[in-house]
Amino acid sequence: MLDRGSYTTKILGSGGIYPYESKIERYLSDMRDYFIDRKAVEEILSSGRNPLIYVVYEISRELRGELNVGCTVIYPGKIGDEYHFTKGHFHSNVTTGEVYIGVSGEGLILMQDKNGAFNVGEIETGTVVYVPPGFAHRAVNTGKTELVFLAVYPSDAGHDYETIMRTGFAKIVVERGGRPTLIDNPNYRRI
Ligand SMILES: [Fe+2]
Repeated sequence: MLDRGSYTTKILGSGGIYPYESKIERYLSDMRDYFIDRKAVEEILSSGRNPLIYVVYEISRELRGELNVGCTVIYPGKIGDEYHFTKGHFHSNVTTGEVYIGVSGEGLILMQDKNGAFNVGEIETGTVVYVPPGFAHRAVNTGKTELVFLAVYPSDAGHDYETIMRTGFAKIVVERGGRPTLIDNPNYRRI
């Protein structure tokens, strides 16, 4: 359990951070409407498998002006041709940004605002990614090992998963010819 009076935690790589306050696990069954290849999703789940896609270890604070810390571990793999990713979200408080810091592995950060502006950046060990206010953000693991990154964001940011779930991201990351490739999302709906 986290000692609230302590202000340090340690990065354990694919073990996340310790100590942490909460741990969120996202299995394929939690994300069945997110991946593009619904047939692949149902085949995996109906075969009795339910792979763990990612875990978030988090320490959240309460007061405005305080900063939360999260460590996300995305396990390597694909559903159909699509690489494992996080659900992605806007912040409920649209004036709040976020910083991602790559710890290990390799992947992409997709960002998209409500006017359809889209941005993609690579993340690996030592990469610092700034997510501006108003941009939904999703991380994609395109590597063969866990993608691990830290996130630092305002305590009053809040998570809006709903909006981006309805529209999807404009682009998705799939394997083409053995390489991660960004393609248009055929199911993308503009707001
Ligand atoms: Fe965020």
